[in-house]
Amino acid sequence: MIQSTANHDPLIRMVDVHKRFGAVVVLDGINLELNTGETTVMIGESGSGKSVILKHIVRLLKPDRGQVYYRDQRIDDLPERNLVPIRRRFGFLFQHSALFDSMTVADNIAFPIVEHSEKNQSEIEATVAEKLAMVGMSGFQDRWPAELSGGQKKRVALARAIAVDPELILYDEPTTGLDPPRSDEINELIVKLKRELGVTSIVVTHDMASVRKIADRIVMIYKGKFIFDGTPEAVMITDDSRVRRFVEGRCSDEVLETLHGKHKT
Ligand SMILES: Nc1ncnc2c1ncn2[C@@H]1O[C@H](COP(=O)(O)OP(=O)(O)O)[C@@H](O)[C@H]1O
Ligand SMILES: [Mg+2]
Repeated sequence: MIQSTANHDPLIRMVDVHKRFGAVVVLDGINLELNTGETTVMIGESGSGKSVILKHIVRLLKPDRGQVYYRDQRIDDLPERNLVPIRRRFGFLFQHSALFDSMTVADNIAFPIVEHSEKNQSEIEATVAEKLAMVGMSGFQDRWPAELSGGQKKRVALARAIAVDPELILYDEPTTGLDPPRSDEINELIVKLKRELGVTSIVVTHDMASVRKIADRIVMIYKGKFIFDGTPEAVMITDDSRVRRFVEGRCSDEVLETLHGKHKT
């Protein structure tokens, strides 16, 4: 089912992307447009290729076949040196995007600013303070990562991700490992960054409560292809059993049979 909320102004476009690792086909013709200002949520089973898709967008991986565009510029075939100005338009909050433990919170956030801008010391300090305020962590500049809770670390990592004002934020399972209230804080931040900064986002999550709160649009990957692309309302009423099972958190009938013997539905 294709029910697009597209405003036809894609920031990122993946066209017929194929990727295999050895004999394993992971992406088998992925087409995806991330519309400017929208939050797209990507769902799908573990190992289905969600992180691989994010890595193609930031060109940590290259497709075997197909293209990836940032606005009108093809990026999958760009030489590494030409990627620097494009990568600085992206902020990542990857699953294990650990903070640098040997740096204070302020230095962690300053790191990309020093690398990607010409700001002087006082401008950097002002930017660090502004980004910390944005994630509700004002005053934490001199703390060390080891002193922070899991949720606080995520928020500092998010402050670092937005340090150089990205146009696109990629979140890879940002709430995994957090308790429900802490997860909800991250969801509220995702919504706030969209509203206040107008950023475009792609979020990988398993958590349907997150989906309902943050998604403008949902895509689901299954066996290397997108089998759903539509609104959060549409995903709740789809009759595609593969999507329903995921959304409702049910295992497959084959697994049920293995565990319990023959089973009636
Ligand atoms: N660099 C790599 N080399 C070999 N196999 C990989 C690599 N990255 C991912 N894979 C494989 O690709 C598949 C999809 O991985 P991934 O995108 O991480 O799944 P997920 O949907 O859980 O994020 C998995 O089978 C994984 O083992
Ligand atoms: Mg993953």
